[in-house]
Amino acid sequence: MAKVKKQFFCNNCGASSPKWVGKCPSCNEWNTYVEEVLVKGDKKEERRTWREANQRKATPVLIQEIKAGDTQRIVTTDEELNRVLGGGIVNGSLVLIGGQPGIGKSTLMLQIALELSKKVLYVSGEESEEQIKMRAERTGMSNTECYVMNETNTQQIFKHFKELKPAIMVVDSIQTLSSPHLDSTPGSVSQIRECAGELQRLAKETNTPVFIIGHITKDGSIAGPKLLEHIVDTVLQFEGDHHHTYRILRTIKNRFGSTSELGIYEMRGTGLHQISNPSELLLSQKEEELSGSAVAATIEGMRPMLIETQALVSTAVYGTPQRSATGFDLRRLSMLLAVLEKRCGFKFGMTDVFLNIAGGIKVDDPAIDLAIVSALISSLQDIAIPSDVCLAGEVGLSGEIRAVNRIDQRIREADRLGFKHIFISKYNMKGLDANDFNLKIHAIGKVEELYEQLFS
Ligand code: TYD
Ligand code: MG
Repeated sequence: MAKVKKQFFCNNCGASSPKWVGKCPSCNEWNTYVEEVLVKGDKKEERRTWREANQRKATPVLIQEIKAGDTQRIVTTDEELNRVLGGGIVNGSLVLIGGQPGIGKSTLMLQIALELSKKVLYVSGEESEEQIKMRAERTGMSNTECYVMNETNTQQIFKHFKELKPAIMVVDSIQTLSSPHLDSTPGSVSQIRECAGELQRLAKETNTPVFIIGHITKDGSIAGPKLLEHIVDTVLQFEGDHHHTYRILRTIKNRFGSTSELGIYEMRGTGLHQISNPSELLLSQKEEELSGSAVAATIEGMRPMLIETQALVSTAVYGTPQRSATGFDLRRLSMLLAVLEKRCGFKFGMTDVFLNIAGGIKVDDPAIDLAIVSALISSLQDIAIPSDVCLAGEVGLSGEIRAVNRIDQRIREADRLGFKHIFISKYNMKGLDANDFNLKIHAIGKVEELYEQLFS
């Protein structure tokens, strides 16, 4: 009788070892090794022959002779998805979509499957066919060639794939798949690695795009070995705040396009809806001008976006003042407060500071600094900022306002939305013709100048 083969795998990089080790020799992480059953009984022999049978013999080809048309893209009706993928779904690509549970990954993929007027195979290991049907009915979309299957065995999936020959395949959660060539449980390091490898071969050999959904661990990384992100061509992250309806699709890795792209959706009772004009939604519609709010002209990916920032500064009731921020880095907030205190003499030491970015969107663009600083001063002094003012600039440690990239795009967007004034860094004025825009450009060099020009 053949014996059970077990091995230890690193959770981080997927390296294997015949015995347990405390520190992974390949990625130097501690305590990442887990034991997994690889092959029970006689499957080892079977596995080897299967591997050999599946090996494609490749021959060297001259680069001039490869037809570039081979990587055509499927352009979907979903503009946001096209954008994050760099202009459409690339044939033969393997795309991984990660995100927190309940954020809407399955909904997004099902909608894409239903939107395409192509043959689609939607494989789900998490939901039954009826449940998928119910979801499809909610979104109100239909595709006459969308096949749904509840299956977790990769070989069965491949069998049906070969019969159906779909134009696109979606696999709902790599963590539920299992390859019959391994005996470890679904979701284990070796299974994820093996299944992802099999799917990658399938995508490349049949030149069919394959989407896989992946779960996310507590610390926000995709569950399973880090290696998974190396195997796939594109990694997308679906994120958002549970208390808000906005969802952001972000590119983390893309072999066929830029990684700074971003798609915005809104989750409604009827599924996810694309948001093509985010600025108009992220600016709150208010009747009167209130203190503590300022509008930032930011750029996310390639798109300019005007976002409202809100600050509340109040006297600390308890001994230690509180600082809290949603959608913004807390350490950066502390830094901005320190700059205001040191350079302009504002006293934030004994106040509670709360900061909020509209829509629960997390902004990485440093150009939002100037709006945050203005919102903080506005709330502290209780002076409202006129609603036709927006700001774009990075604040440095010595209180200087630094230039930000693509300023003309930001100004044009503010112009389009009817703003009358924009405050930018004076270092951004080079090569900028103020006559090109209807709104008035205020160039400032220091936080003190901002105070003088905006609040007095
Ligand atoms: P789902 O796609 O199941 O999330 P995931 O696959 O990432 O775990 O999303 C489920 C959530 O979306 C659920 O909380 C309900 C909500 N939802 C809507 O608000 N409207 C809809 O039309 C649908 C289908 C779901
Ligand atoms: Mg799901």
